[in-house]
Amino acid sequence: MPTVPALPVVLAGVGRTFGDRRVLRDIDLEIAAGEIVAIIGASGSGKSTLLRQVGGLDQPDSGTVTIDGTPLNGVDQRTAIAFQEPRLLPWRSVARNVEVGLPRSTPRAEGRARVDELLRLVQLEDAKSLRPRQISGGMAQRASLARALARGPGVLVLDEPFGALDALTRLTMQDLLLEIHSAEPATILLVTHDVDEALYLADRVILLGTEPGYPANSGAVIRSVITVPGKRPRDRGSASLAQLRAELLDGLGVSTHHPAHTF
Ligand SMILES: Nc1ncnc2c1ncn2[C@@H]1O[C@H](COP(=O)(O)OP(=O)(O)OP(=O)(O)O)[C@@H](O)[C@H]1O
Ligand SMILES: [Mg+2]
Repeated sequence: MPTVPALPVVLAGVGRTFGDRRVLRDIDLEIAAGEIVAIIGASGSGKSTLLRQVGGLDQPDSGTVTIDGTPLNGVDQRTAIAFQEPRLLPWRSVARNVEVGLPRSTPRAEGRARVDELLRLVQLEDAKSLRPRQISGGMAQRASLARALARGPGVLVLDEPFGALDALTRLTMQDLLLEIHSAEPATILLVTHDVDEALYLADRVILLGTEPGYPANSGAVIRSVITVPGKRPRDRGSASLAQLRAELLDGLGVSTHHPAHTF
């Protein structure tokens, strides 16, 4: 059972500068409880920096991030983060790696039951005793997701969660993420380089980047917000998604005559 219901997230005027490099400028974004929002943007455009503000791993130098009405001040127990690389502890079994994500106060028996439940959810029951070096990349990614879910977060922050996986495993993982979202609703903010992935998963897709004509160090703003029509699971081949895909690629400055859909 998730311990925290899905929570709303509000970014108001969020800015972040490193030295003389302004990375984020004045980001306003309201994410509803249980919503899935995908962020896309060119490499170096500030996507991970934005996620770090929401995950409490870094603080904005202007503006605020609010989770369920409480302004963030550092890492928040109601939020969980998973990164592109699974970052599992090599000496621990899959089950013990998932256990790492449980709140410290969890009673032993309850913790075991929760880990078993999560391993079932990410279809890793049969791998629970294996070490990270004995499992595939997709399995490691699922273990990392289960660890992030262990505390039943109200907000789940995912930085290119499937970026290191092959195309087929990636599609399977997208469906798994949607299943998880139905079973244990959380508000999800994810970064992806894959426009199709963003359109398949998200309620809204945010395009992050500097304003046209502005220098790179003027800081990224939200250049556009696309509301994706249709209930999930969506038809990956639908004409409406193809239209949005072309729009997003255009916004990213990618020619749509080119067959590649990631960048
Ligand atoms: N702690 C830091 N100190 C200095 N500069 C930083 C720091 N963190 C990020 N930056 C700079 O901020 C910019 C944006 O970085 P960020 O990691 O957010 O990009 P990104 O959009 O996630 O890129 P990618 O798609 O390649 O992951 C980069 O120019 C980076 O060098
Ligand atoms: Mg990044």
